[in-house]
Amino acid sequence: MGIEQLSMYGYASKAEVLADARRYWNPDKTSFWQDEGVPLVIGERSGYRLTDVDGHEVIDVHLNGGTYNLGHRNPELVDTLTRAAQYLDIGNHHFPTPGRAALARRLVEATPGADKAVFGSSGAEAVDVALKSARYATGRRKVVSVMKAYHGHTGLAVATGDSRFSQLFRSDNPAEFVQVPFNDLDAMASALAGEDIAAVIMETVPATYGFPLPEPGYLAGVKQVCQTTGTLYIADEVQTGLGRTGELWGVYAEGVTPDILVTGKGLSGGLYPISAALLGTAAGGWLEQDGFAHMATFGGAELGCAVAVKVLEITQRSDTRENVRRRIGQFAAGLADLRAELPHALTGIRQKGLVIGLEFGATGAKPVMAELYRQGVWAIFSTLDPAVLQFKPGLLLTERETDKILARLRDAVRKVAAAHV
Ligand SMILES: Cc1ncc(COP(=O)(O)O)c(C=O)c1O
Repeated sequence: MGIEQLSMYGYASKAEVLADARRYWNPDKTSFWQDEGVPLVIGERSGYRLTDVDGHEVIDVHLNGGTYNLGHRNPELVDTLTRAAQYLDIGNHHFPTPGRAALARRLVEATPGADKAVFGSSGAEAVDVALKSARYATGRRKVVSVMKAYHGHTGLAVATGDSRFSQLFRSDNPAEFVQVPFNDLDAMASALAGEDIAAVIMETVPATYGFPLPEPGYLAGVKQVCQTTGTLYIADEVQTGLGRTGELWGVYAEGVTPDILVTGKGLSGGLYPISAALLGTAAGGWLEQDGFAHMATFGGAELGCAVAVKVLEITQRSDTRENVRRRIGQFAAGLADLRAELPHALTGIRQKGLVIGLEFGATGAKPVMAELYRQGVWAIFSTLDPAVLQFKPGLLLTERETDKILARLRDAVRKVAAAHV
């Protein structure tokens, strides 16, 4: 149980943590999860298992969007970090280091079209770098994104996303940040027709919108329009990258070589924050002109680089790729069975590798999320389409763990369906 996680801060109970969290941290968010039936305060964590400080154990199929692709406290990553901490720290962001050079090289070599890597400490920061780099390369200011897109909450990133998050902070700016519907190539073409757009930023499969899949040819069509209008294509692979679709990056399988690719979350191994914007030659030009033009004290922290190099190595291993291939098939078969049994409850399945959205048209995803939590699986509803449950299994899950997840999902969906007839 999570006794140590409580006592190290002087708490005697979960209730005391919740009281302080409500009072000093985030009252709305703290209450939200209590009200939605996911009263999780994470104590122990290991592999794909999380244990609430009160002892309730769940398999993590949220993974913070892929942050824990390789599991919680993956032993190889913990070992890498603890060994690195014997002789490294964050480092000084102004200087080259072996870790920065090695990670940049590995990322660029694994990413067709990329020429340089700029490091940050969050996905949103890397998105901001991507947008700034596109503005630099094109001399244009405007950015096009997809309605219900999610690229994070920093200054430029939040302006590309849903108004729920930008208006509150007066960060919406429709004159410069234009939005078009997903999977609507005509709308994209007309948004770009004025040849005044610096970048189109696209999640390969929009995560917070519930993983609607791109129609065949859509993303390649967007890239084509970008090319003919002098606009850069930014692939946000923060959720779909690092092996989740079965490939290192999902966008290439859609026939797109992006001008810029953004990665984060899983690059950290869930242990040390790090993200990267991988820039093509044009977008990376500013690094020749003024290398001090974007700076971040924690960007490319040396400890983060050590972990990220190991993350890439594990992700690209043939064993890992083979495991992912098997799990993709296992989930596809198990989910198809469940849909065949309960088509009125599970109304649709969106699957691209281990990137999965489960549609619960009638009930919405929240009751399933709460029942699943009781059954011992943690998966989150989609903030921008609450009918869809995000289902994001880990890359190293075993066959047995996968069977367990599918069995618990079946039980939860049966129960919710029975309660709603
Ligand atoms: C697709 C996508 N892009 C960017 C981000 C922002 O990443 P971060 O929360 O690390 O800033 C997220 C976060 O969930 C995301 O899902």
